[in-house]
Amino acid sequence: MQTVFRGRHFINLEDFTKEEVDTMLEVSFDLKKKFAMGVPTNYLPNQSMFLMFFEQSTRTRNSMEAGFAQLGGHAGFLDSSSMQIAHGESAKDTAIILSRFGHAIACRYCNWGYGNKYLNEMAKWSTKPIMNLQCDLYHPFQALADLMTMQEKLDSLKRVKVSIIWAYAESHKKPISVPVSQLLAFPRYGMDVWLAHPKGWELPDWVIEQAKANAAKFGGSVTVTNDEAAAYEGAQIVIPKNWGNWVTDQTGVAAAGAVKVVDEKLMAQRSWKCTEAKMATADKDVLYMHALPADRNNEVEESVIDGPHSIVFDEAENRLHTAKAVMTLLMGGR
Ligand code: CP
Repeated sequence: MQTVFRGRHFINLEDFTKEEVDTMLEVSFDLKKKFAMGVPTNYLPNQSMFLMFFEQSTRTRNSMEAGFAQLGGHAGFLDSSSMQIAHGESAKDTAIILSRFGHAIACRYCNWGYGNKYLNEMAKWSTKPIMNLQCDLYHPFQALADLMTMQEKLDSLKRVKVSIIWAYAESHKKPISVPVSQLLAFPRYGMDVWLAHPKGWELPDWVIEQAKANAAKFGGSVTVTNDEAAAYEGAQIVIPKNWGNWVTDQTGVAAAGAVKVVDEKLMAQRSWKCTEAKMATADKDVLYMHALPADRNNEVEESVIDGPHSIVFDEAENRLHTAKAVMTLLMGGR
């Protein structure tokens, strides 16, 4: 078991070995059990951290805020629009100052082409751990919670067919970071990972190459297809979720907030919805997952997300336990 985490940044799960991700999961299970039993987990007393958000959040913000309080510390929420960042203060200066005030900085910044660079710039200057609360490329906390949830539900993840399937949505042009982190993480657990999307919604080539390298190393496989039906067929886990066509369509990239979400190109893909009929072609015990928020009736039928195969609320709950594990390991221990 690898246990040396203190002071490290958490920007991409790929920065951690499989053995280290295993440790994060073991600590997550331990914290979940203690939370259920009311056992205090005061591992980070008198510590403070900063949660910087450039975008909205429900699960991420509250799993970090509640989780850090349960570990004995205090997490301050910072809306970037009310920080001096709005007047142009740099990532460098922000990171130096906040890391002098507290024990960690966590940040969500999903703007395409900017978010990951911003986090890495902070990591260069911060003397304390930087945690990625989702950027344009990665959402490591989500991938970790997904692994925990799958491990809870299945005896083994080896050779399990898990299908990450693009889905139609109108709510907003979502980052690619959830499917990217899932595609990189799941093959490390020997899973047979399918990625299905319409033409035009490709993930970057380097992501596919890295995912295939992970599969080769850990005994899984990666299949990329435009055939939605093939992805559903016999799948033991399906993750139908929208992401924006950031990689192939650079329109409006410089001002992501102003990007037009629904256009003709998108509307032509309305049929990419998770339906009961499609679920019926999967394994009889198929599990339905979604990082949430879901665009109900566009990404998925209500009868699926609220139905017997759905594990979305267990998945969301595990954001708390995995967040606590990462904070405990990076900010405490050795
Ligand atoms: N899954 C997730 O990151 O949810 P929030 O956007 O609500 O944080």
